[in-house]
Amino acid sequence: MPSFNLIKTVVREMVTSERSPRVTEPDLVMDDPENVAAYVEAGREHAVMAPVYLFHCANVCEVIRPGDTVVDLACGPANQLAMVARLNPATRFIGVDLSAPMLERARELIAHQGLTNVEFRHGDITDLSSFGDKSVDAVMSTMALHHLPTLDMLCRTYAEVARILKDGGGVYMVDFGHLKSARSIDYFAYQYADKQPQLFTEDYYNSLRAAFYPDDFRQAVTPLEGRARLYSTIALPFMMALKSAPRRAADPALAAELKRMRQRLPEWHKHDFTDLRRHFGMNRMHCSLIE
Ligand SMILES: C[S@@+](CC[C@H](N)C(=O)[O-])C[C@H]1O[C@@H](n2cnc3c(N)ncnc32)[C@H](O)[C@@H]1O
Repeated sequence: MPSFNLIKTVVREMVTSERSPRVTEPDLVMDDPENVAAYVEAGREHAVMAPVYLFHCANVCEVIRPGDTVVDLACGPANQLAMVARLNPATRFIGVDLSAPMLERARELIAHQGLTNVEFRHGDITDLSSFGDKSVDAVMSTMALHHLPTLDMLCRTYAEVARILKDGGGVYMVDFGHLKSARSIDYFAYQYADKQPQLFTEDYYNSLRAAFYPDDFRQAVTPLEGRARLYSTIALPFMMALKSAPRRAADPALAAELKRMRQRLPEWHKHDFTDLRRHFGMNRMHCSLIE
């Protein structure tokens, strides 16, 4: 049952004529040590990002195959990437990020988990010239595009994805969508303020303010038209995902492992996971691995 505050936020977004401005992230390339540490902490198993990472992980798994080379754009500390890579040992992953401290944490995590199918490149996601045309099987990216300062850079990123992706390649790129009203942004940002570190709440607030509007995404994804579809969460576009058709054959063992991971989530995280699945499901984005 949605809370009263959530219903109020949905109604406000539907009727408001406000268009809150996009405010670029204070830490565009995340190399501030305190921010890096807070972000790494929030991504640990059972921490605040856990249900979101699990939901995106399932969706990525559906568009990749064993034997693929997959690029993770703006991989950060690789919390998301490590989860996907652990479940896909026969897939090769390349994480790209512009922040040296983030890549350092990412390398530590991958080594700590004993994963041998992940490597990293220091680079800018708006210029993927170190990758050839049609050289990768799939591209993933999670909660990162709002770090780009301009719409032009968002457009360049999707154009680069269209260039490096093989024909029939997989795509799952997801990020926050910009809400129209500043009060709606406050509602989402401070929803769990009592359950998470203050620095993470601030980072989340900054992320929501820096998010691109749904119209910006519609414009930017045009180079990938026909290869992937843009979905948003229903009624409130607080998340936008570009996803290709599933490429993976039925995989009951993977689905069972994802179910076990979901069952291990604390109760309030289980609700978040279900909400996310429902919000995207109502806009017809499904994932057979978590049905
Ligand atoms: C919020 S983190 C997301 C990390 C990860 N994808 C996740 O889901 O946890 C955003 C990341 O984008 C990186 N970043 C920002 N601008 C970038 C750019 N132009 N090229 C590559 N990475 C960039 C930052 O350094 C940071 O690590």
